[in-house]
Amino acid sequence: MIKGIFPTEKFKYIETPFYWYDMDLLRQTLDVIRNECNHKPFHVHYAIKANANPVILKEIASYGFGADCVSGNEILLALECGFKPDQIAFAGVGKTDREIGIGLDHDIFCFNVESIPELAVLSSLAADRKKKARVALRINPNVDAHTHKYITTGLNENKFGINEQDLPEILKMFQDSPQIELIGMHFHIGSQITDLSSFEDLCVKAATLQQWFNEQGVTLPMINVGGGLGINYQHPNHCPIADFESYFRLFEKYLRLQENQTLHFELGRSMVAPCGSLITRVIYVKEGLEKKFLIVDAGMTDLIRPALYQAFHHIENISSDMDYLPYDVVGPICESSDVFGRERMLNKSSRGDLIAIRSAGAYGETMVSQYNCREKPASYFSDHI
Ligand SMILES: Cc1ncc(COP(=O)(O)O)c(C=O)c1O
Repeated sequence: MIKGIFPTEKFKYIETPFYWYDMDLLRQTLDVIRNECNHKPFHVHYAIKANANPVILKEIASYGFGADCVSGNEILLALECGFKPDQIAFAGVGKTDREIGIGLDHDIFCFNVESIPELAVLSSLAADRKKKARVALRINPNVDAHTHKYITTGLNENKFGINEQDLPEILKMFQDSPQIELIGMHFHIGSQITDLSSFEDLCVKAATLQQWFNEQGVTLPMINVGGGLGINYQHPNHCPIADFESYFRLFEKYLRLQENQTLHFELGRSMVAPCGSLITRVIYVKEGLEKKFLIVDAGMTDLIRPALYQAFHHIENISSDMDYLPYDVVGPICESSDVFGRERMLNKSSRGDLIAIRSAGAYGETMVSQYNCREKPASYFSDHI
């Protein structure tokens, strides 16, 4: 029984649904990452898209990590929450002129550029401002991440990244445009990657590309391998911290860095997913013809991952100690995909019981919508409850 990790008595008086963050677990995770990167030329830029709650951002920034942003507003929020401009990377396949302007005006560390037209626009906007933009080329490595197709990003069929055939033309653009400076290569092959051999394939590809750049007389000060490290959604209590040791060791082993070259990571999910839970209340226990439904007050509007990616989240009743029964845990939204879990074994549940949907700290609160005119869920932190 792991009900002990939640202050259920205090939760009773809070309006549901809400996100609850275990700040001790977040700090333990950040400590592990910082220790793994210590004394290595490794730099972690937290991928803000995973969780943009200012309390979480401030905590991560206080550890000295950088930020990986995918919109102009994420850059502004990162700065507000204490991330340093010279540690901000800006990714995204469709950066607007306004957003590029925000990056230039704040002299961010690097633009991860994804196409020839984007590079041309960046060069021209930098010239208007008499600035020089540092650029890492996001190259599509055509490496399979063996994850859900909606979160696979590094295959030729995906919209992301520059194709290798375009590289000669792009190098010429750098030679012709003093407003852009090539500082590195960037990759991101996908998310929730649990088969680490995909990262080995990425290292092999990065080494081949690096050699090509060197043959053209170009040395790259940095390589950015993106994010993607998966977490254990099945067993949030037994494996609350992702295997960062194996992850970083893999890059140390398979990616030979050149002199003074730095290796950058854009971790999102693995940093914040385990520390967050969505707490919801049973509105009705409905006896169907074939199954029992727990109808809860959180819906796909509060946590869309199960509906969008058929994602698994461990679910538990944190109010009941009774025998286990199988339930389908569903939300109130008028969509058949509004299901958090089917045939889940939960303690016998009653109206009013509190249910915790675990490992919801990444791509949970950031993807909340107000479909059906619903309220946004509030967030609470273990430091204050
Ligand atoms: C370019 C880029 N970097 C980093 C990330 C973070 O990935 P993850 O949360 O899987 O670590 C993403 C997520 O989609 C991304 O698109």
